[in-house]
Amino acid sequence: MLAVCIAGGVETAEAKSYEKLAFNPKEAKQAVLTMPSGEKVAYTAYENIFYVTNVEDSVYQTLNIYVPETLRNGDATPILIRTYIGGYMATTAKSPSASDATGRALKEGYVVCIPGSRGVNSTIDRNGKTIYTGTAPNGLLDLKAAIRYLRYNDAGIPGDAEKIIIDGTSAGGAMSALVGSTGDRPEYDKYLRKMGAAPTSDKVFAAVCYCPITDLNHADMEYEWLYGCTNTGVRHLDADQITISNELAAECPAYINSLSLRNEAGNLITADNYKDYLKSFLIASAQKALEEGCEIPDTIGIIRYSEKPDLGDFPVRGGNDDGRGAPSFGPAGMRPMFNNKTDYVTDIDLDRYLTYVATVTPLKTPPAFDQYGVLIDTPTPENKVFGNEEGVPSNFTEFSLRHRLHDNAATLGKDLMARIYIMNPMNFISENARSVAPHWFIRHGAKDRDTSFLVPINLATKLKNSGFDVNFFLPWNRPHSGDYNLDDLFTWIDSISE
Ligand code: DHB
Repeated sequence: MLAVCIAGGVETAEAKSYEKLAFNPKEAKQAVLTMPSGEKVAYTAYENIFYVTNVEDSVYQTLNIYVPETLRNGDATPILIRTYIGGYMATTAKSPSASDATGRALKEGYVVCIPGSRGVNSTIDRNGKTIYTGTAPNGLLDLKAAIRYLRYNDAGIPGDAEKIIIDGTSAGGAMSALVGSTGDRPEYDKYLRKMGAAPTSDKVFAAVCYCPITDLNHADMEYEWLYGCTNTGVRHLDADQITISNELAAECPAYINSLSLRNEAGNLITADNYKDYLKSFLIASAQKALEEGCEIPDTIGIIRYSEKPDLGDFPVRGGNDDGRGAPSFGPAGMRPMFNNKTDYVTDIDLDRYLTYVATVTPLKTPPAFDQYGVLIDTPTPENKVFGNEEGVPSNFTEFSLRHRLHDNAATLGKDLMARIYIMNPMNFISENARSVAPHWFIRHGAKDRDTSFLVPINLATKLKNSGFDVNFFLPWNRPHSGDYNLDDLFTWIDSISE
């Protein structure tokens, strides 16, 4: 009886504290966004809203909501959440920009939400001590809390919280993939409860992931397995780096095989045929660019014939018009090496193409992500995000722990392992997984070397194999970037929002 009373009391106190999360439509202001075309888009802004009851970092734990004058589909209008997380850093809640998906969304009549979130550079002062507030999984938790806020207030906020689409680039793309794959997963509950996130669902409808820097605890081996061919060439590694690179690469086949991925034809993708699978995406990308008039020199490994190719088991074709709008290849006025009308890309000399990618932007040195204390002491953003609240960075793979210069006897603790697990979307994707958003839009530039091509390909393939709707492409001649080809993105958003 006593226990029931106490439980009831706690619930009442909690319910009372959630009143702080009630949306106040009166705190609004009117504004106008001028698009690049000169078109004016009028909207209502609701800004600086705390999305948790126990605010730890008042600079970052707020969100802004923007509602266009004319909603696309009344109360059923989707809500686009755009995260500006980059480099796993903190970001404040921002206002819409005419040059990215937020401005475009308003113009198209979608509701927009831009949350702030903690990250590797956010700190507070607690009893005279500097506390780092944005170590993993806190940035992700902030996004989940923002989603819960929207759903908790669905009746009062214009738009439909059951139609949330989250969009992010790079580390933000990784967050988008995490939000998209971990809706309502119990692993995050204890944290969200402690923060005072609204007691409701944090599942989303769709995830837009531009060049997601994700699958962090396998990203090093995937990088070396792919780019090892450049080690003694354009990458200029020294002997120690080559040893690390080779050892990492040697761990990758077992990981690839463990994923049991299947291609479009239903055949198993293994480490032995993976490079053909990757090539099929690059071929599709180059072919599309060619058809759209891009100039592709024949020095970068693209192989073509003047007749339609038989692509055999890997018939990846089509996708959206991502080649369009990509910067034209090579110096202005360069003569096309291909005949756009009659030539077909049939194959790629992968080593040559990867050398080209590494020439455009120098590669990361091994280990590309879990670098701290291995050959050099400099921590990466990933080492910092897995660090502790005193700001001490941390390794997050057994490999790098084993190869640390100074203290290689350390092990990953249980708590850290749990944090690493809940920061990897690959752990949550499976057939019928209710935590996974039904719709996915994933892009990674065909010359983006910030992570291995394997990372986005595995993510997209695992989602597809698990039965989710995935729109995936490697846009030609694209470096590490996001929110490009907005025509394509919004055609897709439109198509899933019907
Ligand atoms: C980002 C880029 C990286 O290369 C990386 O390792 C982490 C984050 C970024 O741009 O967000």
